[in-house]
Amino acid sequence: MESNIHNFHKMSINERLDKLKEFSNLTDDEMEKLKSWVMPMETADHIIENVVSRIYIPLGIATNFVINGKNYLIPMAIEEPSVVAACSNGARIARSAGGFTAYASEPIMYGQIQLVDVKDPELARINIMKNKKNILDMANTRSNTLKRLGAGAIDLEIKNFEDMMIIYLKVDVQEAMGANIINTMCEYIAPFIEEITNARVILRIMSNLTPLRMAYARAVFPAGLIGKETVENIIYAYKFAEHDVFRATTHNKGIMNGIDAVLLATLNDFRAQEANAHAYASLNGYKPLTRYYKNENGDLVGSIEIPVAVGTIGGTTGSSEISKIAMRILNIENAREFSCVLASVGLAQNFAALRALADEGIQKGHMKLHARNVAIAAGATGDDIDRISKIMIEENKISITRAREILKGD
Ligand code: MEV
Repeated sequence: MESNIHNFHKMSINERLDKLKEFSNLTDDEMEKLKSWVMPMETADHIIENVVSRIYIPLGIATNFVINGKNYLIPMAIEEPSVVAACSNGARIARSAGGFTAYASEPIMYGQIQLVDVKDPELARINIMKNKKNILDMANTRSNTLKRLGAGAIDLEIKNFEDMMIIYLKVDVQEAMGANIINTMCEYIAPFIEEITNARVILRIMSNLTPLRMAYARAVFPAGLIGKETVENIIYAYKFAEHDVFRATTHNKGIMNGIDAVLLATLNDFRAQEANAHAYASLNGYKPLTRYYKNENGDLVGSIEIPVAVGTIGGTTGSSEISKIAMRILNIENAREFSCVLASVGLAQNFAALRALADEGIQKGHMKLHARNVAIAAGATGDDIDRISKIMIEENKISITRAREILKGD
C-alpha cells in the first residue's frame, strides 16, 4: 500500500486507524492499544523517579513519505499544531518527483575520558598508544554482541588541553543509540588508563556530538507544483539563514520539529538529538542544516546533512505499548534506515515551513489550529470545538475568555 492516503486529514479518527491498520498490518490487539492503552503508574514509576502521573501528547501520522523508493507512514508525537500537516505536505510535494533519497553512515561515535594531573604528557601519550590494542580489547569485553559483529571499540585518539589529556574512544555501536555501551566501556578502561599514565581520570562519558554518525537526505520540489516565485523565495529564505544566526536558529528549530516528534513517538532521547544537531550546526559558525538550490529545470532541490544517533535496541521504546506500535508503523529494518527517515522528515518539515513563510506566512493556518486548541482549553467538546474556533477566527478574537463566552451562548 502507498503512503499517499487520499484525504487522510479529513477522515474520522476511526477511519484513519483503519487505513493505518491496513498499511502497517496492525493486529486487533495493537489497534485496541492505540485507542486505549495507558502506561500503568507502576511502569512509569520504574522509568523515572518521583512519579505522580503520566502526561499525554497527541500522536499523529504524517503521510506521503517515499524514502529510497519505500513508502512510509511516520508517527509523530507533538503538542504544536500544523507540524504533522506541514510534514505530510512537504513529503507530498517531494513524492511527485520520486521522494527522498537518503543515506546514513556507519554508526561510529566517541566516548571521552578526561585525564588530569598528567605529569609527563609525552610519556603518557606513548604509553597509551603502546597499549592501544589492550585498551580496545578491554573495552570490547563489555559487549559480546558488538564483538561478535566485529564492531565495538575500534580506535583511540588523544587531544591535549592545557594540563589535561582527553582520550577519544571511537566505537562502532551498530544498532544501539550508543550511550550505555560507550559509557560502560569508558568507565571500565579508566582505571587501566590511570595506571599506565600515572594520572587521574575524572569524566568518562560518551559525546552527544556525532560527526561520524551522519544522515543525508535530498529531494526535488518541482517548480510546477510550488511555483517559480516560491522556488526563488525559498532560496532567499535559505540564504537568510546562511548569513544570519538568528534566522538559522529558527530554521533549524523547524527541522527539529519533525525529528523530535518522531523521536518522542518512539520514546527516544530527543534531547540528545537536539544537542547533536545544534552542536554540528555550529562547528563553523552556526549554520542551517539544510541547503537549497535551483536545478537546470528550475525545480527546487533541498538537502539535509545532520548527525543522527538513534538505535533500534536498548532504548526505552519497549516500555510503552504505543511507542512499540510507532516503531511497527515506521517499519524500519535497522538504525541506519531510521536515521534516513529522520533526516527526510527534517527536510520535509523545513521545506514546508519555508514554503509557508515564503508564501502567505504561517499565521493564517496556525491561528486556525490555535483557535481549536483555545476552544478545547475553554471546555468545548465535539462539534463545539469547530463552531467556536470558526466564530473566533471570523471575529479575529482568539482568546479563552471569548471561547468561554461563545460556549455559554453569548
Ligand atoms: C515553528 O515551530 C517553526 C518555524 O518557525 C520554522 C521556521 O521558521 O523555519 C515555522
